Amino acid sequence: MRHTLMRGTPPLQRPHFKLFQLLVLTGLFHFCLGDSQVTKAVKEMAVLSCDYNIPTQQLMNFRIYWQKNNEVVLTIISGNISVWPKYKNRTIVDIANNLSIVILALRLSDKGTYTCIVQKTDNGVYRREHLALVKLSIRVDFHDPIITDLGNPSADIKKILCSTSGGFPEPRLSWLENGEQLNVINLTVSQDPETELYNISSELHFNLTRNHTFVCLIKYGDQQVSQTFPWIISKPSPLVDPFPLWVTILITIIGICGMTVLITCCWNHTV
Ligand SMILES: *[C@@H]1O[C@H](CO)[C@@H](O)[C@H](O)[C@H]1NC(C)=O
Ligand SMILES: *[C@@H]1O[C@H](CO)[C@@H](O)[C@H](O)[C@H]1NC(C)=O
Ligand SMILES: *[C@@H]1O[C@H](CO)[C@@H](O)[C@H](O)[C@H]1NC(C)=O
Ligand SMILES: *[C@@H]1O[C@H](CO)[C@@H](O)[C@H](O)[C@H]1NC(C)=O
Ligand SMILES: *[C@@H]1O[C@H](CO)[C@@H](O)[C@H](O)[C@H]1NC(C)=O
Ligand SMILES: *[C@@H]1O[C@H](CO)[C@@H](O)[C@H](O)[C@H]1NC(C)=O
Ligand SMILES: *[C@@H]1O[C@H](CO)[C@@H](O)[C@H](O)[C@H]1NC(C)=O
Repeated sequence: MRHTLMRGTPPLQRPHFKLFQLLVLTGLFHFCLGDSQVTKAVKEMAVLSCDYNIPTQQLMNFRIYWQKNNEVVLTIISGNISVWPKYKNRTIVDIANNLSIVILALRLSDKGTYTCIVQKTDNGVYRREHLALVKLSIRVDFHDPIITDLGNPSADIKKILCSTSGGFPEPRLSWLENGEQLNVINLTVSQDPETELYNISSELHFNLTRNHTFVCLIKYGDQQVSQTFPWIISKPSPLVDPFPLWVTILITIIGICGMTVLITCCWNHTV
């Protein structure tokens, strides 16, 4: 299969083929390594495993490098542990547990792919013994969405707005009624360039002459938040209490006074 492809490929396209081969090999390599994936929320802790155990008494013969995007996180050289400033005071290494690193109080900026490289000395020459990749995804939970009334653009239409802020990764919003998707109007998604956090909002226009139960659903990563908005039309409302409390009290007092006067008058007349 590979030979057929090679022969049939004009020389000019060879580099592309080589690139393709490289990508396939890299893919296979990654597959064999069994890249692991860890997903956590901000402020939680993450345990990233190197998947490689070294007996404590042999640690002197090893160099272990934990890196993120070619930036050092932590090294163990001849049993001496060094933690880089960005990770100081919140990163520990658990040598007995597959050389795992534990990052406490996660920040959004900790997201990325971590690499663990294990080298072993062989008469002073270090050779790579093991390589592990761990992808760390971080999420920041959105606040529960808020639904606000934007008024009525016409007699039988009402506009409402669903919004939430301060989350990560990028959110998707949908309006649902009885499980069916409705039109999303004026969807806005914004991202703070510094904190990388997203805000999202969208309008819904509906016929206010009918009863409804709307759900505003916001999905991000493998999480979601939602808010329900019920719209119930009451029957032509029977006037429950047309008078405020103070009017009621006043009428009662006037009534009692009137009665007292009337009774006193009657009493005087009969006597
Ligand atoms: C361990 O690392 C520290 C700081 O980098 C250094 O001062 C010390 O000499 C090292 N010790 C050994 C045994 O390599
Ligand atoms: C780590 O904690 C120590 C003691 O609490 C402090 O002196 C040091 O500045 C901290 N380092 C970093 C990088 O935050
Ligand atoms: C180290 O990793 C191996 C393979 O992933 C696992 O079977 C073993 O339980 C781990 N050891 C510890 C101490 O977690
Ligand atoms: C979307 O918002 C803009 C201004 O915020 C408004 O002019 C426009 O009419 C809105 N679109 C719809 C379909 O309501
Ligand atoms: C997101 O919403 C928050 C709270 O409403 C606001 O303070 C912030 O400026 C908004 N950020 C962006 C990028 O729109
Ligand atoms: C709203 O619904 C009522 C009856 O349910 C209908 O008569 C009216 O035309 C609708 N209005 C709009 C704008 O669709
Ligand atoms: C709306 O719901 C209320 C409460 O369930 C009910 O009393 C009313 O008849 C409904 N109105 C319409 C137009 O369906």
